[in-house]
Amino acid sequence: MMTVLVTGGAGYIGSFVVRALRDAGHRSVVLDDLSTGHAEAVPEDVRLERMECGATDEVAALMRREGIDAVIHLAALSLVGDSVRDPGRYWLRNVGQAAGLLDACRAAGVDRFVLSSTAAVYGEPERVPIDEDHPLRPTNPYGATKRAIEEMLGHFREAAGLGWVSLRYFNAAGAAPDGSLGEAHHPETHLVPIAVCAALAGAPRLTVFGDDYDTPDGTCLRDYVHVLDLAEAHVRALDWLDAHPGGSLTCNLGGGRPTSVREVIDAVGRASGREVPYEIGPRRAGDPSVLVAAVGRAREELGWEPGRSSIDGIVRDAVVWHRARS
Ligand SMILES: NC(=O)c1ccc[n+]([C@@H]2O[C@H](COP(=O)([O-])OP(=O)(O)OC[C@H]3O[C@@H](n4cnc5c(N)ncnc54)[C@H](O)[C@@H]3O)[C@@H](O)[C@H]2O)c1
Repeated sequence: MMTVLVTGGAGYIGSFVVRALRDAGHRSVVLDDLSTGHAEAVPEDVRLERMECGATDEVAALMRREGIDAVIHLAALSLVGDSVRDPGRYWLRNVGQAAGLLDACRAAGVDRFVLSSTAAVYGEPERVPIDEDHPLRPTNPYGATKRAIEEMLGHFREAAGLGWVSLRYFNAAGAAPDGSLGEAHHPETHLVPIAVCAALAGAPRLTVFGDDYDTPDGTCLRDYVHVLDLAEAHVRALDWLDAHPGGSLTCNLGGGRPTSVREVIDAVGRASGREVPYEIGPRRAGDPSVLVAAVGRAREELGWEPGRSSIDGIVRDAVVWHRARS
């Protein structure tokens, strides 16, 4: 049993990570400034500390007080367009605060760290599926901040013996099958919840950004991974660190299969029994036509399988969650 500090544990993915940790017999403490998260997403029996993750002294004191063994660091700003408009804020909050958090780990003697990274570190793919050795050329500040944090982990490994796992998520989606927990971003920029809300409420219409890509149906291909599969990978990353003290590992986490925007729209139609109102808009600058993960390393190193990540399963759970909220 480990005691794990989960930064961003009141957010979408973090709230599932906290539940997966509990199911695996670990204890969690959530650190979240609630800038985009929801206090009610944290289970009542889990301590929620409302603070910024980069507040080194306070965070180190919290780590000592709670006997923290490992950190799972999900807290971040993560809107691509926002990061293009306001890069300084992204570098200060994502990179600066990660440095403060890692200093706190060092001060408190915490030597196990799991990072939420992203497919955005790769940029425009040279080859698909994208494996972890693909060149890192992020095309926006958000992706660049995550690449910088990954680099920083190497520095802390050298300086302080930190063991780390960086998990590069592709498109997280889905919800708890019983409708008890799911995605509630404001603003929402992710396709699955936007399509589900468009189907259930009839408005606002979904805009498909381009249908003239060189793909089978002309819309972009992406890789969706169920949030329950993602959450489980974090527990396995902690097991990996237990077996490899001071080690380092980078893994993609995706469903490992391409799904087009039109296929998502069709899946939402089937799951909700309603048409998704949509229109075709122009392409968005910087959108690659295909982003698909090679997930072999996560399978081999973590023994992880994205078993719940079919698009129909993901969308079915998202529909249950949005119906339960409306
Ligand atoms: N959702 C996806 O598809 C996706 C894909 C790739 C990577 N990621 C990464 O996964 C992580 C979680 O994403 P999410 O979709 O759950 O986002 P989210 O916005 O729902 O959760 C982020 C949480 O972190 C908190 N937070 C933000 N900055 C903080 C700070 N400086 N100090 C303390 N708390 C802070 C927020 O209040 C929120 O609860 C992020 O690091 C994101 O970059 C997400």
